[in-house]
Amino acid sequence: DEDFRLTEFEAEVAADGRIEPRDWMPDAYRATLVRQIAQHAHSEIIGMQPEANWITRAPSLRRKAILMAKVQDEAGHGLYLYGAAETLGVDRAELLDKLHAGRQRYSSIFNYPTLTWADVGAIGWLVDGAAITNQVPLCRCSYGPYARAMVRICKEESFHQRQGYELLYALAHGTQAQRAMAQDAVDRWWWPSLMMFGPPDDESAHSAQSMAWRIKRHSNDELRQRFVDICVPQAESLGLRLPDPELRWNEERGHWDFGAIDWTEFQQVLRGNGPCNEQRLAQRVTAHEEGAWVREAAAAYAAKHRDEQEV
Ligand code: 3HC
Repeated sequence: DEDFRLTEFEAEVAADGRIEPRDWMPDAYRATLVRQIAQHAHSEIIGMQPEANWITRAPSLRRKAILMAKVQDEAGHGLYLYGAAETLGVDRAELLDKLHAGRQRYSSIFNYPTLTWADVGAIGWLVDGAAITNQVPLCRCSYGPYARAMVRICKEESFHQRQGYELLYALAHGTQAQRAMAQDAVDRWWWPSLMMFGPPDDESAHSAQSMAWRIKRHSNDELRQRFVDICVPQAESLGLRLPDPELRWNEERGHWDFGAIDWTEFQQVLRGNGPCNEQRLAQRVTAHEEGAWVREAAAAYAAKHRDEQEV
């Protein structure tokens, strides 16, 4: 019977079908989805911190309003994704406990500091740009709730990327000091953005299985290359330089060749030794503890409201 259900599952995935919460699925499929969706959700929530640092320091009301809208979107993305994870039988409280205990990850990129206002632009252009390159294929992921969450998230990410690009464009065409600030931010965010796509394919523990299950539609290196090919012409129109002297167009590959990534830095960040790991997790735990009263109030209201409905 189990074999029959496995055959049915595999046929559905192979036919580019959608696996829905009530469908039978291998435990390992469920487990890797919980792992990836939870870590994706955690990334959205932790990712609010670097930019929030600049909400009170935005140079104009317009920039402040845009940044507040973006950070608020990230919170919403986190909630969609915790909701998608809960369709797999886990509870967001337990996922957050794992995040706080360092037993579940969030994206390496958020362990870097936002030192100047230009970082807000570099994050929008590069980090949200990388997120879009990674997330558009996830709209075709085999697990229904995750793929559907991605459709709405990708639409909002395009606004995130666009506002970051426009912010950098304004700086890069401003005073000498503003241009220098924009270039410095790109210098600091370029390589960590390439690391967002994960380790090289031949060192990726999950890629083969995730691609067989059509969770991952393209490999880490494929999406990284796609991102580099998108960014090079954009950097040119920004009038900013990407900090890679080995960048050059490769006619026969039809792609941009680029320099070596420092994977020891990546492993250090994943081990918790990045510039901001401790600060990010400490701030998250504090926010969670200080927000306990909101959760209790919402739960009390829901319980009271439910009783009223049942009357
Ligand atoms: N940061 C932290 N951990 C990473 C990582 C990164 N950038 N890249 C890989 N890893 C971890 C993996 O989680 C895995 O560890 P684990 O077994 O403990 O989970 C290990 O490194 C091996 O990597 P694999 O390539 O084998 O792992 P995956 O198959 O899961 O691929 C991934 C990694 C491409 C990030 C994939 O998980 C994925 O596509 N996730 C969904 C997208 C996502 O999480 N994006 C976060 C970006 S930030 C964001 O979206 C917010 C936006 O608003 C800016």
